[in-house]
Parts: sequence; structure tokens; C-alpha cells
Amino acid sequence: MTQGFIDRKRLIEAFQFRHACKQFDPERVIPAEDFDTILEAGRLSPSSFGFEPWSFLVIQDRALRQALAEVAWGARTQFPSASHVIAILARKDLRWDGAYLREHMREVKGLDEAAVAARIEKIRAFQQHDFRLFDCPEGLFDWACRQTYIALANMMTAAALLGIDSCPIEGFNRRDAEAILARHDLLDRRVWGLSVLVAFGYRSQPAPAKTRWPLNRVVRWVGG
Ligand SMILES: Cc1cc2nc3c(=O)[nH]c(=O)nc-3n(C[C@H](O)[C@H](O)[C@H](O)COP(=O)(O)O)c2cc1C
Repeated sequence: MTQGFIDRKRLIEAFQFRHACKQFDPERVIPAEDFDTILEAGRLSPSSFGFEPWSFLVIQDRALRQALAEVAWGARTQFPSASHVIAILARKDLRWDGAYLREHMREVKGLDEAAVAARIEKIRAFQQHDFRLFDCPEGLFDWACRQTYIALANMMTAAALLGIDSCPIEGFNRRDAEAILARHDLLDRRVWGLSVLVAFGYRSQPAPAKTRWPLNRVVRWVGG
């Protein structure tokens, strides 16, 4: 074991183990402690300025899963067989002058009014000029969605490290899926949008071989 939490070989084995699992064993349920650990990996994920612009909606209601599967072509085999399903919601109200950012800075970061005001000015400059998030109507929501993918990845890696399979799912009609969640009072569309879905469970078939470009195709070193 080198310094750290896990040796290199085991770490890469976990990344090789993780694959987009299409069909789970419907008889196997993830123990609560393991699933809580996966959620904790999501909660502890980094986000731009640390604003945690996400909500993890755990969908165990079979009828709701079925309704979502009908508008999610990428989840047809995963949803009925998965042990757990999460709909990852992303915030739409991350504007520099919005109430949520102030609330987060006060309640989570413990900043006083002067520090909040200084930070808001920094965020205004970032959102307006550096990343130009207001140039297109979906810019701010897209920015929040990008943060949620970090939580998505961390949850899938945490699952793999625990020997649990997963499948990320973007194969859905966003408008229709959001309408279903809104009808069930699970999504206030003024504040939230559906970013991405993810299913967890245990594979019922062996994983296909991994296909990736070789490292030298995707990495370019400059100096060093
Ligand atoms: C953001 C995202 C969305 C995806 N959406 C779907 C999906 O809707 N349905 C599906 O079966 N796989 C989906 N995948 C799985 C990819 O097809 C898969 O990760 C890719 O082909 C690489 O294969 P591997 O994950 O098995 O290594 C998605 C993957 C990502 C990262």
C-alpha cells in the first residue's frame, strides 16, 4: 500500500469494474448503509464556489419509476431492475443577486453581511464577464447541471468501490420527465430542473469489455 486510502491497482480495478450497467439483478437490494455512503459521496462533492446546486431525489416508488421510464428511452431496462434510482436535480436560481446564494453563504459558509456582499460582487463578475452565463437563456441552469455531473461521477465511483453497479442516464425527454415530477409535487420548475438520472444495483450479466482511446491519444503534456 502506498500512502493514501487505497492502492493504485485496486483503484483502477474499481474504475474498470464500473460500467454502464443495462440490466440489474432485480432480486438484489443495496444495503441501506452502502446506499447512504453513495449519497454522502454526492453530498461531499465539490461545486463551483461551493454552492451545492443540487438535490438528490431517490425514486423508489415503482409506479413513478415506470412513468419516468416511459419518457426515458435510456432507462427502459435499468429502471425496472435497479435497486435504487436517483433523479439529480439542478438549481435554476443561481444568479449572483438571488436569494439562494445569500442563504448558502450565510447558513453554510457562516459569512457576515460584509463578506457576503464582497463575495456577491466576485460572483457577479464571474457570471457576467468570465463565463458569460447570461449570454444564452439556459446558461445559468447549464452551469448548475455541470456541477451535478461531478456529484454523479463521485456517486458512481463510490458505488464501484463498494462493488455496486450503476448507470448514468441522460436518455430522457427533459420536458416530459420534469412534467411528471412536477405533477407528483417533486419538482418546483421555477427553482429546479432535471439534470441527469442514475440507477444503482447489481449486474445480472457480465460487463462488456471496456473500449477507450489509449492514454497518449487523450493526454498532452506541456513541459515537465
Ligand atoms: C452523462 C451520461 C449519460 C448517459 N446516458 C445513458 C443512458 O441514457 N442510457 C444508457 O444505457 N447509458 C447511458 N450512458 C452510458 C454511456 O453510454 C457509457 O458510459 C459509455 O458508453 C462508456 O461505457 P462504460 O460506462 O460502460 O465504460 C450515459 C453516460 C453518461 C456519462
